[in-house]
Amino acid sequence: MAHLTKTYPIKARDYLKAGEVSMEIHGLMKKIGFDSDLIRRVSICAYEAEMNVVMHGGDGVLNVEIGSESINLNVKDSGPGIEDIGLAMQEGFSTATEEARQMGFGAGMGLPNIKKNSDRLEIISDKGMGTEVRVGFTV
Ligand SMILES: Nc1ncnc2c1ncn2[C@@H]1O[C@H](COP(=O)(O)OP(=O)(O)O)[C@@H](O)[C@H]1O
Ligand SMILES: [Mg+2]
Repeated sequence: MAHLTKTYPIKARDYLKAGEVSMEIHGLMKKIGFDSDLIRRVSICAYEAEMNVVMHGGDGVLNVEIGSESINLNVKDSGPGIEDIGLAMQEGFSTATEEARQMGFGAGMGLPNIKKNSDRLEIISDKGMGTEVRVGFTV
């Protein structure tokens, strides 16, 4: 299968549309006929990364690259960035706002879940420089 690349915009604080990008990727992978466990893992990671842009980031984009040997998600936003990535990776750590918590978000399990469900994870971020999350899967 040839490489397929798609880019989706994500809007900060847009809780109404939140989750749509990961649903699209889910549908796309299902149509191509990927293994359901791989689809589940990619969807979880796409969802968590998308939600982090909506909740904590600025406007951003999610790029997905689907190949026969690997799948890569690249999620980039122009938000405040992450000062301490090690701390952000800890289970239960969250800086979610009261607004987000009231909607049931902010359990602090998003990044740990991405780590658990992916084969490769790289976070490039610092205070004031936005955030880039690269997630890779071996097909
Ligand atoms: N795109 C992002 N921009 C800025 N901060 C982020 C981003 N993604 C994650 N973070 C920081 O990492 C913390 C942990 O993220 P996560 O594990 O997904 O938990 P939660 O989203 O429930 O807070 C967030 O609370 C936030 O402080
Ligand atoms: Mg999160």
